[in-house]
Amino acid sequence: MGTLAACQNTADYDDQSSLNNLEIVDYAPVLEDDATSILAWLTGASATPPARLLYDAQGARLFEQICETPEYYLTEQEESLLPRLGDYLNQTLTDACQIVEYGSGNRRKIELLLQTCPALKAHVPIDISKAHLIENAETLAQAFPGHYFTAVCADFFTAIDIPSAPFGQQLDQNIGFFPGSTIGNMPEETAAELLTNARKALGDGNLFCVAVDRVKDVQILEAAYHDAAGASAAFSLNLIDRMNREFGATFDTSAFRYDATFNAQTEAIEMWWTTQQAVETQVAGVPIALPKGHRLLVEISRKFTPESLHSLASLSGYHVRDILSTPNEWYSLAILEC
Ligand SMILES: C[S@@+](CC[C@H](N)C(=O)[O-])C[C@H]1O[C@@H](n2cnc3c(N)ncnc32)[C@H](O)[C@@H]1O
Repeated sequence: MGTLAACQNTADYDDQSSLNNLEIVDYAPVLEDDATSILAWLTGASATPPARLLYDAQGARLFEQICETPEYYLTEQEESLLPRLGDYLNQTLTDACQIVEYGSGNRRKIELLLQTCPALKAHVPIDISKAHLIENAETLAQAFPGHYFTAVCADFFTAIDIPSAPFGQQLDQNIGFFPGSTIGNMPEETAAELLTNARKALGDGNLFCVAVDRVKDVQILEAAYHDAAGASAAFSLNLIDRMNREFGATFDTSAFRYDATFNAQTEAIEMWWTTQQAVETQVAGVPIALPKGHRLLVEISRKFTPESLHSLASLSGYHVRDILSTPNEWYSLAILEC
């Protein structure tokens, strides 16, 4: 395990937790300037905006609404597998461990795991959305007073120095956990880079549990991204509000139509905006003109098969130890080992 690197607290609120089982580490992730990333995407220089831009406070709340919709089967499927993962880890782990969660977001999933797997004594949630991260970590630390929590604000695409278990606890192994099928939001080479960094950071012989959505009937896949309540569309289009709020744009949200389609070649759901009329505005002072019918790819969600999982694992220096799947095989937790 790594040592705790010097933190730089840049937030305008107090990072010291008053709870004695919670530590907050802010690596103050240095990211490409948001405006630069947005402009690269709007002008066609990059295929999608970085997914992190979808998760401001409002985006994180909207994502939680998506998870509650009946069409978005992914959450329910994943949660049904977590007690099995808990049992699996109970049988596999011999000593107390620290579980390191990439892109932790809300706390529901880790709660299920901590409840079912006594070997997990410490939890390190890593997320870029700092306020949301701290809020969830504080609630967890109160709910599990016998566990230790280190909330890490960092960019999971970088090599993160994983803090040692806090408060002098000696824990023998790090377990990686990447829920929410977030790994599907990136192309294979990016996912492999993230997993390679994680493998090195978590240390020798670690296990990494990654949640993936499976290739299945196209209608089921596409319906999950077109919920009747409109949460998926609102989540996507929140980025327009964000451009208006933060970069002085004057986009009219109703000038864009949200749509999601499955690309069978790349085995990915693609979330698109199509302009319903010509749109002209400025973003961070740069003029942007989009003709009517212009399409912008906002996000991808890759779907997996056992073959593509094996390929991703081997690109990352892992091998697939097991795949836990739901009875209908819509969703899996892949247990990687190195
Ligand atoms: C799809 S959500 C999943 C949330 C939660 N783990 C779940 O399963 O419901 C993705 C999470 O990853 C976080 N995230 C996105 N980009 C990130 C980055 N570059 N570094 C760290 N966290 C990131 C977001 O803030 C969000 O909480």
